[in-house]
Amino acid sequence: MRVGIGILGFGTVGGALLHKLVNEGSSVSTKTGLEIDVVRVAVRDLDKTRSVSLPADVLTEDPMEVVNHPDVQLVVEIMGGEDPAGDLVAAALRAGKPVVTANKALISSRGKELIALAEKSGVPLLFEAAVAGGIPIIRPLSETLAGEQIDRVLGIVNGTTNYILTKMAEEGAEYKAALAEAQELGYAEADPTADVSGADAAAKAAILASLAFGTWVAGDRVYTEGIERIDATDLRIAGELGYVIKLLAVAENSEAGINVRVHPTFVPADHPLAVIRGATNAVFVEGPSFDQLLFAGPGAGGAPTATAVLGDVVDAARELLAGAQVAPPIRFQPGRVLDFESASTTWYLRLEVVDRPGVLAQVAGVFGDNEVSIKSVWQEGEDDGATLLLVTHAHNEGRQRATAQALRSLDVVNNVAAVIRVEGAGPTPNL
Ligand SMILES: NC(=O)c1ccc[n+]([C@@H]2O[C@H](COP(=O)([O-])OP(=O)(O)OC[C@H]3O[C@@H](n4cnc5c(N)ncnc54)[C@H](OP(=O)(O)O)[C@@H]3O)[C@@H](O)[C@H]2O)c1
Repeated sequence: MRVGIGILGFGTVGGALLHKLVNEGSSVSTKTGLEIDVVRVAVRDLDKTRSVSLPADVLTEDPMEVVNHPDVQLVVEIMGGEDPAGDLVAAALRAGKPVVTANKALISSRGKELIALAEKSGVPLLFEAAVAGGIPIIRPLSETLAGEQIDRVLGIVNGTTNYILTKMAEEGAEYKAALAEAQELGYAEADPTADVSGADAAAKAAILASLAFGTWVAGDRVYTEGIERIDATDLRIAGELGYVIKLLAVAENSEAGINVRVHPTFVPADHPLAVIRGATNAVFVEGPSFDQLLFAGPGAGGAPTATAVLGDVVDAARELLAGAQVAPPIRFQPGRVLDFESASTTWYLRLEVVDRPGVLAQVAGVFGDNEVSIKSVWQEGEDDGATLLLVTHAHNEGRQRATAQALRSLDVVNNVAAVIRVEGAGPTPNL
């Protein structure tokens, strides 16, 4: 059975996908019985050298030609960005063509509208590769667990930041040196902002939360903090306490509402996410019926991402050939998306303080005034280098922030050097 496809983009993912389809095409057809025929591929620059050779008339600089070509029955969007990708995807869906995309930026901003459009047109819109590259997580959330209550999704969904934090923890490297090495090895882009600021992980967190809880969470509703201010000192202290620091995407659903956030987090060393090293990604899903599920693997890279894209292409092609009206991956219900300020969080704080009697009492007084209770407190160094380390009990995030703000104005506190959230009950140091 033949299916004509059009591909928007021939970069890292497009090159790997075309390698699979053109150079390894026979294995796709042997396993699935589908003859996937690449009809048109859109690029920005026809003069670039390509990793897979295609007949001259297949490449075009006009992406609309791909969408509108009469022999293109299914469109694969792997060009990235929101514009013009969003309008091209919408045009394909309106024309009744199934779409497969790897574009997290697009799905986290316009996913609700595009999923509704796909439902109206009765065709699939599949985006397995948009979150955690090669790890199957979208299909488990939208199909396998479709009938289940999901309470929480925790994930390491950005390989660049996980690589940097692993380097810092294991080799004591400072942030700038670890980032430079990640760039040299191709794990980080020349402009790493989207990764290190947490924006990339936030887009993925929004998609995971929307699918897990069945309520649309737009990307801009995700509280986001990156890893730029993580210091080697905190990674060392975390290690001494039996913790690691990870950039976690956290999505929680409670009676009060949905809370989605991305921030560096102290994770106990015996938590399944603590052992996820380097560029690997992992997503941990919790619910009352199935307890805990862990999905892990390569979160990016041409070949793993193309695997996820090809799986969606096969799925969409089967639906197309069956001629069935396709149900949407999810029907969103209204729900309450909360501000992070109302979440309950546990904090680790590192305060640079003057070394004189009464400092601890003043610091403790600020916590008391804000009704935040301290779980443990201990001191490192002396004289001008004195550092006070504190872990709080779980409290409202807004109150924790008010405490940090008040500490900044205390004359015995030189600097609130670090504020990092803690997963679980928090460490108790062995002093
Ligand atoms: N790379 C990964 O590991 C990875 C992992 C998961 C998801 N994704 C997602 O997959 C998508 C593609 O990523 P990528 O890394 O493959 O990107 P990329 O290497 O930058 O490739 C983008 C491709 O799209 C083409 N393109 C861009 N704008 C175009 C336009 N206006 N008209 C025609 N062609 C255009 C480019 O053409 P030229 O080649 O002529 O410049 C290039 O071939 C993104 O949404 C990304 O978020 C990537």
